[in-house]
Amino acid sequence: MLKLLVKNVLNDLNSNLESVSSMIRTKIKSALHTSQPGETIKVCGWVRTRRDSKSGFSFVELNDGSCMANLQIVLDQNVPNYEKLIKDLTTGSSLSVTGKVIESPGKNQRIEIHAEAFDLYGSADAETYPLQKKRHSFEFLREIAHLRPRTNTFGAITRVRNEAATAIHRFFQSRGFIYIQTPIITTSDCEGAGEMFQVTTLNLDRLAQVQTEIDFSQDFFGKRASLTVSGQLEAEIFATSIGDCYTFGPTFRAENSNTTRHLAEFWMIEPEMPFYDLQDNMALAESFVRDVISDVLENCAEDMVFFNQRIDKTTLETLRNITENEFIRISYTEAIEIVKSSGKKFDFPIEWGSDMQSEHERFLTEEHFKQPVIVYNYPKTIKPFYMRCNDDGKTVCAMDVLVPGVGEIIGGSQREERYDILIDRMKEGGLNPEDYWWYTDLRKYGTVPHSGFGLGFERLIQLITSMTNIRDCIPFPRTPKNAEF
Ligand code: 4AD
Ligand code: MG
Repeated sequence: MLKLLVKNVLNDLNSNLESVSSMIRTKIKSALHTSQPGETIKVCGWVRTRRDSKSGFSFVELNDGSCMANLQIVLDQNVPNYEKLIKDLTTGSSLSVTGKVIESPGKNQRIEIHAEAFDLYGSADAETYPLQKKRHSFEFLREIAHLRPRTNTFGAITRVRNEAATAIHRFFQSRGFIYIQTPIITTSDCEGAGEMFQVTTLNLDRLAQVQTEIDFSQDFFGKRASLTVSGQLEAEIFATSIGDCYTFGPTFRAENSNTTRHLAEFWMIEPEMPFYDLQDNMALAESFVRDVISDVLENCAEDMVFFNQRIDKTTLETLRNITENEFIRISYTEAIEIVKSSGKKFDFPIEWGSDMQSEHERFLTEEHFKQPVIVYNYPKTIKPFYMRCNDDGKTVCAMDVLVPGVGEIIGGSQREERYDILIDRMKEGGLNPEDYWWYTDLRKYGTVPHSGFGLGFERLIQLITSMTNIRDCIPFPRTPKNAEF
């Protein structure tokens, strides 16, 4: 009889424990929004802070990355193993808690959890855990990029990046654009600038000793291959067959520029549209930027308030200005006039024919117009071979979208669809048209006017979050001398 009783009690206990541990975890975001007082829920995450009261309570701020806000957990002596476990609940430690949802007496939160059981997954040594509760510089956080997503700022950036990527697909999908995956390894140089990382399986150590001319026919692809600087040329193939399309992929540039706006590896979105001229292209670029920003403002409201409070107090105002007003459109010639007659001192002098530097671009968008500016019809000498030549013989159908805080965020053009002119432009640029035979074929067989542009994804994130350094807008930045993680 007694045996049976003990067995039943044990069974009950086991099934209780089981039901606790097998309970499905509620994400903190959902708990904060929808869990009702009286419910029992299980949450899991990392401890941001722990505060102990003299009367034997502990308050733990728990974060699981699902939202900016922490969930307050109240633990007391009734929790099994309280004494033993509580001292290990330090900042950074990980745990699962099951408990009752209680209406919170505090004014900062609607609810809190009174723990009935908790399970410590892993402690975090207070002496060595780098993310103690104080402000850390972004430079320091870059050195611990494996832990920085646990901070408020990088949690918010990560969620905004996710929302922006989703909004980008939504924008194009709702307009019937087809998503194309273009190759990462390529044997052509789209921008014609030679800033490419080489891809090889040749034994470089041995080659360095022999020091002869390199025979790329012996290499993996039988010729010199690189990481792509743009998916545009391949996107043009699809635009001139299945119609409106876009790419969204990693892009690589071996330019040795240590600036706050350049990465060696970044993500680019490149739509390409048949039967679009430069005007149509500009109109699409403008709606694109505005729609994506609107979506992020709407769907990441809590994170956006954080950027506005903590990173730059003008964030929301700048973004609303972008979503509510039309972009300015001026020709390159007009832009140069405005910059030259501004009377402002710049580090780099500017004349018609020279490339605008970031300081000139930012002057136009931040100071002169105080809103996004699209500059079009650039001198052909400073733009790549694929841009369509204007009748003046001096300019091409290029367009750059400039935005406050960043400068150039989009570069695009109407493409040269005339075979002979394209060949001439390639030769002028020092490219061998035979290497691009498939690209020039598109002009031989059923050529059409078409256009497209490229948006730098991290520059968009910079614009949205007001982060001053692009290295903080990608999970693991690659820049000169830096490829850790
Ligand atoms: O102006 P870019 O070089 O244009 C192209 O690559 C064209 N093939 C695009 C097209 O027409 N399909 O680059 C486009 C955008 C820039 O405006 C900038 O936002 C971003 O890509 N970008 C960079 N972002 C981060 N780091 C770098 N090193 C970047 N270089 C360009
Ligand atoms: Mg550009």
